[in-house]
Amino acid sequence: MTDPLVIFTPSGKRGHFPVGTPILTAARQLGVDLDSVCGGRGICSKCQVSPSYGEFSKHGVTVRDDALSPWNSVEQRYDDIRGLPKGRRLGCQATVQGDIVVDVPPESQVHRQVVRKAAAVRDIIMDPATKMYFVTVVEPDMHEPSGDLERLAQALKDQWQIEDLHAPLPVLRKLQKALRKGNWEVTVALHRGSLDDRHQLLDIWPGFHEGRVYGLAIDLGSTTIAAHLCDLRNGLVLASAGVMNPQIRFGEDLMSRVSYAMMNPGGEVEMTAAVREAINALTVQIATEAEIEAEQILEAVFVCNPVMHHLLLGIDPVELGQAPFALATSDAMALPARDMELTAMNDAAQVFILPCIAGHVGADAAAVALSEEPGKSDDLVLIVDVGTNAEILLGNKTRVLACSSPTGPAFEGAQISSGQRAAPGAIERVEIDPATKEPRFKIIGSDLWSTDADFGTPQITGICGSGIIEAVAEMRMAGILDDKGLIGSADQTGTLRCVETGRTHAYVLHDGTQAGGPLITVTQGDIRAIQLAKSALYAGARLLMDEMGVDHVDRITLAGAFGAHISPKHAMVLGMIPDAPLDKVTSAGNAAGTGARIALCSVAARRDIAQVVRQITKVETAIAPKFQEHFVNANAIPHATDGFPNLMG
Ligand code: FES
Repeated sequence: MTDPLVIFTPSGKRGHFPVGTPILTAARQLGVDLDSVCGGRGICSKCQVSPSYGEFSKHGVTVRDDALSPWNSVEQRYDDIRGLPKGRRLGCQATVQGDIVVDVPPESQVHRQVVRKAAAVRDIIMDPATKMYFVTVVEPDMHEPSGDLERLAQALKDQWQIEDLHAPLPVLRKLQKALRKGNWEVTVALHRGSLDDRHQLLDIWPGFHEGRVYGLAIDLGSTTIAAHLCDLRNGLVLASAGVMNPQIRFGEDLMSRVSYAMMNPGGEVEMTAAVREAINALTVQIATEAEIEAEQILEAVFVCNPVMHHLLLGIDPVELGQAPFALATSDAMALPARDMELTAMNDAAQVFILPCIAGHVGADAAAVALSEEPGKSDDLVLIVDVGTNAEILLGNKTRVLACSSPTGPAFEGAQISSGQRAAPGAIERVEIDPATKEPRFKIIGSDLWSTDADFGTPQITGICGSGIIEAVAEMRMAGILDDKGLIGSADQTGTLRCVETGRTHAYVLHDGTQAGGPLITVTQGDIRAIQLAKSALYAGARLLMDEMGVDHVDRITLAGAFGAHISPKHAMVLGMIPDAPLDKVTSAGNAAGTGARIALCSVAARRDIAQVVRQITKVETAIAPKFQEHFVNANAIPHATDGFPNLMG
């Protein structure tokens, strides 16, 4: 007679198993994703399933059509003490009695998919490096003199098929007490190597430990440090927080920080200490916000540009300031957090740093590649991560190219006469009527469009990066600005908003005399700063297109927190990005941060990106003769020679 058929949903995996086979065993043999922390002892309840074919027994009573075993004493005890939801069974206790369809609910799937909350949906397949295991360890014996760690390693091998266990000193110090207090049953947090299969013991608790473990995905930028606290069981983000990078006091942009290290012996040590201190404070802050203990944070993944990468690791960045821009290492790094003095998280916490692509193209660009996967695209996609330095990727299934371009801080509102960072009070959207040349604008913190004359206009404090881009593009479309970027006089433009400022003109965007707030003008110097920034961005993209041998791209993805706020139309009117159908220009949100989260949640992704980065062709803008030519032509608005047919529609 054939053994009963067991079908799992939603995976559809199926097989025949003898009567009496535990559902958890059947799931493992078929490769069905069914969780277990206690190893089938009926303690953790992570293995819950719902039989969906026929009825099933409860409280020892077998009913007709039952296809699972009656409740046993372990399952009954669990239900009595903690309660099992209606219709649920413990997969490790219920056994096959007949043909059965078993549904594995999402919360019982280890590798369940977490959907990113961004415009383009991207699934994160959970495959975390750090997991919890419940294990029973053999007691020591006068005749068997092995150490507690060796017996724990053997128990993990026997019960979980985990080999190659290592214990750092901070956990080794807890080991003996935990084993004895738990009466030789303990829960351990194990970290599987990001780049090899060694297992590190990260923490240990007596008995079955219900607590959760967490990880940080950190996007270490030159201006801000952003962190997401994720639950390592399901990848969900519990809290997000950000702080200014305190290295700003050593230099606004990357090269000025490299210069600081060059000019001041020991300067790199000061900058390393500053950023580590900020990360420690951010760790405490985010743990407090999520109401967890910072020591429950067992992992951190970092993405950053090459200079930040070196300064985080305590490596002198001076080589990155001069050709040939050699990195100390471009490989992914996996190391203990305590080696980097990241002391706020767990003593044994592990850090993973994504690989850099080249001396100017960092782990942040690798994180964008991980998130956006240009190498899996049929379309030729241009990905632009806009920040103080723009990281640019161009590619499809055939080939992926990368470069970085020094856009400077103008896109973040710096170097602009009324510029400010994106914060409440900053003008972020601008429209100018082409007939009257009158502006209206939106400020951060208000949904209303305002004009100078609006009584009660919320307090305006300045203009941020997306605001200045829209302002310049609108000025060009309204005829206030010519294609060379020169602001016309009142006579030339027909508006008194164009005022003389010495030998040039400025456009009054907000006249503070009517409704309050400061006088905000767009000056010729502002236009120049934006022209330089956008020319650098465009030239970098064109250089990659030259290298690829194409004169257009199928789609464009704007990444970065700032990229999320840029209007595609205004970016193209300005000539920041090459021509493309406007509906093919999309925002990916903070793609580097998403890449960090993916790496935090998936060892497979870490190994994947380490391979992918090796296949990306790096293009060095600093030594490419064509870069200068593209840069000069891109100074015009939108461009001296390149056409923008998609703007004409
Ligand atoms: Fe832990 Fe079933 S595996 S209760």
